[in-house]
Amino acid sequence: MASERSKFSSKFGFIAAAAGSAVGLGNIWKFPFEVANGGGAAFVIMYLLFCFLLCFPVMVTEIAIGRKTQKNPVGAFVALGFPKWKFLGILGIIAGILILSFYNVVAGWAFGYFIQLALGNFEIGNQFGEFVNNIGRVGLYGIIFMLSTAYVVSRGISGGIEKASKLLMPTLVVMMVILVIYSLTLPHAFEGIAYYLIPQFSEINFKVVYNALGQAFFSLSLGMGALITYGSYVSKKDNIVSSAALITLSDAGIAFLAGLMIFPFVAYLSNGDVESIQGGAGFIFEVLPSAFESIGPIIGRIIGALFFLLLSFAALTSTISLLEVPVTYAVDELKVNRKYAVWIIALFIFMLGVPSLISNGDSHFFTNFVTYLGADKATNFMDFVGHIGSDTMLPFGGFLITIFTAYIWKKHNLNKEIEIGYPGFKGTLIEKYIDFAISYLCPVVLGIIFILTLLNRFFGVDMF
Ligand code: PHE
Repeated sequence: MASERSKFSSKFGFIAAAAGSAVGLGNIWKFPFEVANGGGAAFVIMYLLFCFLLCFPVMVTEIAIGRKTQKNPVGAFVALGFPKWKFLGILGIIAGILILSFYNVVAGWAFGYFIQLALGNFEIGNQFGEFVNNIGRVGLYGIIFMLSTAYVVSRGISGGIEKASKLLMPTLVVMMVILVIYSLTLPHAFEGIAYYLIPQFSEINFKVVYNALGQAFFSLSLGMGALITYGSYVSKKDNIVSSAALITLSDAGIAFLAGLMIFPFVAYLSNGDVESIQGGAGFIFEVLPSAFESIGPIIGRIIGALFFLLLSFAALTSTISLLEVPVTYAVDELKVNRKYAVWIIALFIFMLGVPSLISNGDSHFFTNFVTYLGADKATNFMDFVGHIGSDTMLPFGGFLITIFTAYIWKKHNLNKEIEIGYPGFKGTLIEKYIDFAISYLCPVVLGIIFILTLLNRFFGVDMF
């Protein structure tokens, strides 16, 4: 191998970075509104189950492929001796680029809300529509966000990504615990928690299961090679199984805490009638500022600003990982200097995100971009990119990665790589479970999700 590859300097550094990738808008913005949209606690239970039963084995696989090959997702398949599978790495990179293009827009909103609440502008909740349409302003927030992401990535693995994650992740946890404790003291908090945690099993239906699975997969950053990439910087001494378990636990734990933090606020605002508040993309942006306002001008401002700062930090460690995937590719395969690669790719992805940025009302064309077969209203460009990049391509990537590992690269090779940092692995129950999951459970379930998503989103088949 050519020059020494950079490494995360410690196991904690890797876990902080990978958990940082996993914990993001998915946990704090999307998870609560998915809960509110369907199933309440039933959704939460399904989500947790899927994280551990289905996603964890995929995560182990991705990290192992990365560490074995020390390569980006495209180079990894070549290094394993299967150059024909390069396409899977390319798909992953494309998915990552698409996701980052719109993710950065929402991250910019979060950052903008932080500023607005710090300034004491509680009205912003009622002005969400105008806020996202003030293109000059949200464009600027998006630029700031992409610049921060690029800055961290340009500093490399241990000096950039690891350093930032080690600072941001613990800070995020502390802020979150403060907010959870505070929210539990609010009037009606209990009704919020009951809605969130007491399952109504009659509410479990196919749609809840389907959504929970997609959510778990996206939330754990799987299916596009983000963890192959991070895995390629992991030391051979590390135990991949315990690292993956800790990453999964952190991600599920933070999503869980996000619910504990948000539902009491929602219950407080609605005088205990949580069901009356609609879930949707604007959920936390529209609902929470009024809740913060009603707890008082000073404390509400502090709590509100803290909340959106936390959301911005969570998003930042995710955008960093999304950018790192194409950057590692350019550095490994195209032999481009890291700094150069970072700035060019960041600029490109930002430009690609402009249609998403203006697709929330500003541009008629991008706001009403497509009308899917069978749908009664148009989908905007941003959601369209999400439907392709995250809803469709991630499960497809996960499906193919497990097929590849189980039947092409072969399980004993996976197990051999895991054993390097975990000598007692052979013969354990966990080895048997991972082998079973990647051979049967994951390909079948992810394959089904992929097909259903295609049929539903693009061909108007409504199976719910
Ligand atoms: N897991 C991140 C979140 O929940 C999103 C993400 C997906 C990041 C895929 C990287 C890769 O917000």
